[in-house]
Amino acid sequence: MEVIIQPDAVAACKLVARQIEKLVKQKPHAVLGLATGSTPLPLYAELVRLHREEGLDFSGVRTFNLDEYVGLPSGHPASYRAFMQENLFRHVRFAASHIPDGLAEDIPAECEAYETEIRKAGGIDLQILGIGSDGHIGFNEPASSLASRTRIKTLTPRTRADNARFFGTPEEVPHHVITMGIGTILEAGQVVMLAFGEGKAAAVAGAVEGPLSAMNPASALQLHPRGVVFLDEPAAARLTRSDYYRWVFDNKPDWQK
Ligand code: GLP
Repeated sequence: MEVIIQPDAVAACKLVARQIEKLVKQKPHAVLGLATGSTPLPLYAELVRLHREEGLDFSGVRTFNLDEYVGLPSGHPASYRAFMQENLFRHVRFAASHIPDGLAEDIPAECEAYETEIRKAGGIDLQILGIGSDGHIGFNEPASSLASRTRIKTLTPRTRADNARFFGTPEEVPHHVITMGIGTILEAGQVVMLAFGEGKAAAVAGAVEGPLSAMNPASALQLHPRGVVFLDEPAAARLTRSDYYRWVFDNKPDWQK
């Protein structure tokens, strides 16, 4: 896996935005996999800027979000639909934007339909991921099957506590979510994981340099032929080979850039 360490989140997100720009220019009908949480906010701000100031056209691009809470009333400000609307979709027009429906009456059918929609779109070209402090990607909590598909999951107390800041009270954080599976994520053409801040350092070290293990779901990226991890300095602090990763990045041949 390629590890790119940048001075801060904004610098890292600018590089990722350029990668997305390259993809969209090469393939105007590209399919993007999107993530929520604080981590991708500078990336979405940069995509909005590229759209507004440089005319980057997303009108042929379709998007699929990783996950959604189950049971939040429609329009709830902490729902991932509201998050995406606020931070990206109200600024940039896409051809279609898919988010799992956390209010579906038949959740297994909704999960199956989500997988079918991804397949019908031709698969995800580039998937953006954040990482939970316990190593979760999407909402695939530790011990999730590495072959899992879109399904309902139960959040751990740690993830509910981590995400409580988006809700009025910790009790309001739902226990259940719909998330793409790790198997679903690994089928994307490229996977780009972002992690910023010291709170992510242990999970990142486990994902990049630890053993492949369902106990650190992000370690599944080790199985992906085109997995890239973008970090700021604090998130990279517990890597043992960061000098090597920096050297590789600084000495990339032109054809690889
Ligand atoms: C949530 C999301 C993940 C995200 C994680 C980290 O659990 N389901 O996709 O990566 O939070 O959140 P943050 O970026 O706010 O640290």
